[in-house]
This record gives sequence, C-alpha cells and structure tokens, in this order.
Amino acid sequence: MRIANDRQHGSPLTPRPMFAPGHFIREAALDPSPDGRVSIETARRPRGAARVAESARRDPARRDARERAANPVRAVVVTGASSGIGRACTLRLSEAGFLVFAAVRNPRDFEELGREGSERVVPIRLDVTDPETITAAVRTVGERAGAAGLAGLVNNAGIAITGPLEFLPLDDIRRQFEVNVFGQIAVIQAFLPLLRADHGRIINVGSVGARFALPFAGPLNASKAAFELVSDSLRLELRQWGVPVVLVSPAAIRTSAGSKLVRDSESTLQRLSAAGRSLYAAPYRGFVQALHGLEAHGAGPEVMASTVLRAMTARVPRRRYPVGPRSRLLPFLFDTLPAGLADRLRLKIFHVPSRAASAAE
Ligand SMILES: NC(=O)c1ccc[n+]([C@@H]2O[C@H](COP(=O)([O-])OP(=O)(O)OC[C@H]3O[C@@H](n4cnc5c(N)ncnc54)[C@H](OP(=O)(O)O)[C@@H]3O)[C@@H](O)[C@H]2O)c1
Repeated sequence: MRIANDRQHGSPLTPRPMFAPGHFIREAALDPSPDGRVSIETARRPRGAARVAESARRDPARRDARERAANPVRAVVVTGASSGIGRACTLRLSEAGFLVFAAVRNPRDFEELGREGSERVVPIRLDVTDPETITAAVRTVGERAGAAGLAGLVNNAGIAITGPLEFLPLDDIRRQFEVNVFGQIAVIQAFLPLLRADHGRIINVGSVGARFALPFAGPLNASKAAFELVSDSLRLELRQWGVPVVLVSPAAIRTSAGSKLVRDSESTLQRLSAAGRSLYAAPYRGFVQALHGLEAHGAGPEVMASTVLRAMTARVPRRRYPVGPRSRLLPFLFDTLPAGLADRLRLKIFHVPSRAASAAE
C-alpha cells in the first residue's frame, strides 16, 4: 500500500495518519487502484456497488462499515468547550480533521461559536447537570453522525469549589459533585450508544489533584478522585465492546480557571459566617494566591489539546496521560515521602500556616 507516496504528493485526499486505526484505510486496503496507489476516492467507489448494497442491506454491521467508509470524517463531542482546555481541544481536534461537536453551557458562547462559522465545529448546548440539554445534544449529534456513531467523547467540563471544609455550605460541596462527577456520568450514559457504534473513545479529564489533597481544595480534590475511580470502573466495564476509556490528568494548566478561582473565593468568603471568615480568611486567601500563581506559570492549554489528540488517535491509547509541569513527579512525591514531611511541604507551598496566627481577618 503506498499511502506514503500520496502524502508526499500532498493529495487532499490523502488519509492522515490519525485515521490509521480507523475505517477508510482498511476499506482502501481492500480496494487498491490498478497502479497500487490508494486514495479515499478509491475507497468510496467500490466495484460491484449493487452487490455490495444488497449485502449491506441484509447485514447491518456491513452497512455500518460502508457508511463509515462513505463518511470518513469522524465525530467527537467536547464538553466545556467555551474556554480553556475545552476550547483548545475543540480547535486541535477540528484542525486534525475531526468533526467536533463543541458543547457549551451558555447561550452566548453557543452563538459566538456559531458566528465563527468553522465547518468542522458544530456548537451544541449542553449543561452536564441538565438532563434536557443532554437529551437534546445526543439527538443533534445522533442526527448528524448517523449510524457511523461517535469516535470520541471528551469529558472536560468542570468547576472548582474550594474553601474551608469546616464552614463550606453542603450545597456548594454537592454542586461540586453534581458537575464533576454525576454530570459526567450522565453525559457518558447518554452518549454511550453512539460511542459503541464506532468503538469510540471516552476521554475523561481528571486532575493531578485526585492523587493528593490540598488544604482548602477538599471538594475539588474529592470530586476528581471520585471521577478517576468512576473512569477506572468504566474502562473495565466497556473493554468488552472495544470502547477505550482514557484518563487525562492535568497539573497546572494556564486557563481562565485561575481567575475564576480568585473571583469565586471572594464570594465564598463573603458567604461564610463571621466566625468562619475570622478563622480562615487569611490562610484561605494565601492558598488561593499560591494556586493561582502555580496555574499562571503552568503549561498552555494547547499542551492538553495535543495529549487529547494523541489519546484519540493512538492505535492503542494509554489508560492514563499525565499532562503539565510536575504532573508525574507530584503524585510520586506525595506517595513516597513520609506523611509528616508531605504535609509540611503542602502547607508551605500553599502558604497555609501550621499554627493558627491571630484570629483577626
Ligand atoms: N487548568 C488546570 O490547571 C486544571 C488542572 C486540573 C484539572 N483541570 C480540569 O480541566 C477541565 C477544564 O478546565 P479549564 O482549566 O479549562 O477551566 P475553564 O476554562 O474554567 O473551563 C471549564 C469549562 O467547563 C464548563 N462548565 C462548567 N460547568 C458546566 C456545566 N454544568 N455544564 C457544562 N459545562 C460546564 C465551563 O463553561 P462556562 O464557561 O459556561 O462556565 C467551561 O467551558 C476541568 O475539568 C478542570 O477540573 C484543569
């Protein structure tokens, strides 16, 4: 097969390497042109079309394979596509040739994406905590993707709720889990039939913070740890259908999440009782500044997007991809250091005193 020659000639019909594990190269290999070269055109024009159509009509599996061959652009859904990592993934995957359903929560972002008018990016409305928007999104994607199904679902949407566990309202902690855990499961459940149809991949965005807790990040760390375990279970359950489940675990990535953290932390402080503010305002602000600083010096979101593309296109994806500065080192350190030392280190890095100072705010 001389696909490499086609690539050298720069043919627009040249299959990209990302499709190597996919469908139309297999189709093309079955049907080379007389000079031995292979192109998508060749794959699209089978000989004995009437015979093939008849057998495809009788055999739904063959029909699905033929539909995929006829429509080699594979579809992916990215949640939380309005900003940061989700936006970068949307751009990168669409540049690589995927049709990206960019799922956004806010009508304003939906309209903005629509105005950008990229033919490989289809905006859809989706709030992971709102079952109606999930159902509508699945319907839209199903109509467009058809029997070819979905090649991937990138579960990226997420929020960060931080604050002193002693005083945080339970509803805030529930909200953290609604978005980062239950919402993700709801979206996965809803898209699974479409994913199964194309042996699509589920790419879950976890966090390095799932492996070690930070002071004041209890809700966030706990939600990501729960999501990682959900992701592990799902990987084992879906293996039998050839639906890989991949976890991408970022450390510090430079996105607007850092400024949202600062903004939200002030409103969290305002909602605490006077006693809560007096006890925790200073160390909590210290933590927020430290975390914001680390994220501001983190990797750009395009690094995450490249990893997500790799996870989407690798012949056999890894189970876990750490991304960002020290994303391998930190979990290793906190696993191996003596517990007392690991605690002192975290308190120091996040500017949280190990002894309470004065109670004044
Ligand atoms: N940045 C980092 O250093 C870092 C580190 C570890 C893990 N992560 C994870 O990476 C993912 C993306 O984070 P980011 O840094 O890119 O932050 P971001 O810019 O704040 O993006 C978060 C995205 O999630 C969306 N979202 C929030 N609640 C939603 C809901 N209920 N339904 C649907 N979408 C919702 C947001 O939409 P709106 O714009 O409408 O709010 C936004 O598009 C998150 O899961 C985060 O936990 C990030």
